[in-house]
Amino acid sequence: MSGHGAPISMTSHRSGGLAGTADIPGDKSISHRSLILGALSVGETVVTGLLEGQDVLDTARAMRAFGAEVARDDDGTWRIHGVGVGGFAEPDQVIDCGNSGTGVRLIMGAMATSPVTATFTGDASLNKRPMARVTDPLALFGAQAVGRSGGRLPMTIVGARDPLPVRYTVPVPSAQVKSAVLLAGLNAPGQTVVIEHEATRDHTERMLAGFGAQITTEDTAEGRIITLEGQPELSPQTIAVPRDPSSAAFPVCAALITEGSDVLVPNIGLNPTRAGLFTTLQEMGADLSYENLREEGGEPVADLRARFSPDLKGIEVPPERAASMIDEYPVLSVVAAFAQGATVMRGVKELRVKESDRIEAMAIGLRANGIEVEDGPDWWIVHGRGHGDVPGGATCASHLDHRIAMSFLVMGLATNQPVTVDDGGPIATSFPIFEPLMASLGADIRRDD
Ligand code: S3P
Repeated sequence: MSGHGAPISMTSHRSGGLAGTADIPGDKSISHRSLILGALSVGETVVTGLLEGQDVLDTARAMRAFGAEVARDDDGTWRIHGVGVGGFAEPDQVIDCGNSGTGVRLIMGAMATSPVTATFTGDASLNKRPMARVTDPLALFGAQAVGRSGGRLPMTIVGARDPLPVRYTVPVPSAQVKSAVLLAGLNAPGQTVVIEHEATRDHTERMLAGFGAQITTEDTAEGRIITLEGQPELSPQTIAVPRDPSSAAFPVCAALITEGSDVLVPNIGLNPTRAGLFTTLQEMGADLSYENLREEGGEPVADLRARFSPDLKGIEVPPERAASMIDEYPVLSVVAAFAQGATVMRGVKELRVKESDRIEAMAIGLRANGIEVEDGPDWWIVHGRGHGDVPGGATCASHLDHRIAMSFLVMGLATNQPVTVDDGGPIATSFPIFEPLMASLGADIRRDD
C-alpha cells in the first residue's frame, strides 16, 4: 500500500552473543513470481512458504485486480486460480504497488501485451524510481506508457492489442527489466529474446520452465541469451518457496560482528545468482559455513552457520559479483565497518536507484556513526575500524528503505553506543518478523517511545 503509518523510531543496543536458530521467511523474488505466474496459468497454483510481507501482499492484490482469484488458507497456503496467458481483465482501480519495484515492474511486463489499460502508483520511494528502463522495451512490443516526467509513477500502460515479439539487450544489470520483457513475451507470438551482459537472478527463467514454457538460456560471448516461445499455455504448479538469502543476510551479519555469537539459519536458497554476499564474507574471513547442502525445488539450499568473527579484513569486492549480491551491499558495508582496512565496492551504480540511493543513505549513516566512507557515482569504500572500535551513537534516516533500516539496526548490536533508525516501519515490506526473530536470538532492538 502507498505510504505507511507514523514513523517507528527504533534503537539497537550492544548485545551479548546471539544464539539459536533463525527461521527466515520466504524469498521475496520467488514469492512475487509465484503469484504472477500463478495468475497467468490456467487452473490452481498452490504456494507454501510465500513471503507475507507488504510488497508481496500488494502483488497479490494486484493479481486479483487483473482477474485472478488469490486466496490464503488458514495454515498459510496460498491458492491462485489463474486466468491464463493473455487472460488479464482490465482493473477498475489504480494498481498500488506500495514500496515494490519488483512488483510494479513485473506486473507492467505481465500486462503489457494484453489489450487492457492499467494505472500504477506506489509510495513516495517507488514514485521516485525510474520506470523507463521497463517501459522502453515494453514499447517495442507495442505497449504505450504515459507517466510523470522522468518516466516516474503514477503511470498508465495501454497494453498492446497485437503484440510483436522482441529481441532486447538489457542495458543495465536488472532482473526486473529482464523479467518484465520475458513476461511480456509470454503473450507475443513467436520468439522473444533477451540478452543480458551480466547474469542477474534467474528465478523467472527457472519458474517459467517449471510452469511449462519453452525457454532456453545460452551463455555466449555476447552475454546470456534467453529465448522464450510466445503464447504457451502455462500449467499450474505446486511451489514451496525457499527462504530468502537477502533476509538471511541480516542475522548472519549480526552474528559475525556480535561477540560470542553462534547462529544457525536453516533452509536458505543459495541460487548462485543470489549468493555473492556469503562468498564475499568468507573472503573477509567470516566464520560462515554451509551445512546440509542439498537441492529443493530446483534451487540449491543449505543451512548457514555464522559465528562471531573478530578478525574480519576489508577486501576489494569483484565488480562482476555485484549482481549476485546487489541487495546485500548495505549490510555488507556494516560488516566492513567492523573489519580491519578498506572494503572497496565498485560497479554498483544500480545501488543509487533502489528503494533509496543506498550508497548515499549508508555513507551518511556510517559517517555519523564514526566510520570513514568515500564514494563516487558507481563505487564506495568503507574504512573499517575493526571489532570493538566502532563508535555508533547516531540516528540514521531509513529513507523508506527496509534494507537501510535493518542494516543500521544490525550495526548497533556491536557499536560502542546505540544506533537509532528514524523509521523501522518499512522493514515490514520484506521481513515482517525481523523484530521478534532478532529478539529470539538475543538482539537488543527496541522501539522508541
Ligand atoms: C529483484 C531484482 C533486483 C533486486 C530486487 C529484486 C527481482 O532489482 O534489487 O530487490 O526480484 O527481480 P533490479 O532488477 O533492479 O536489479
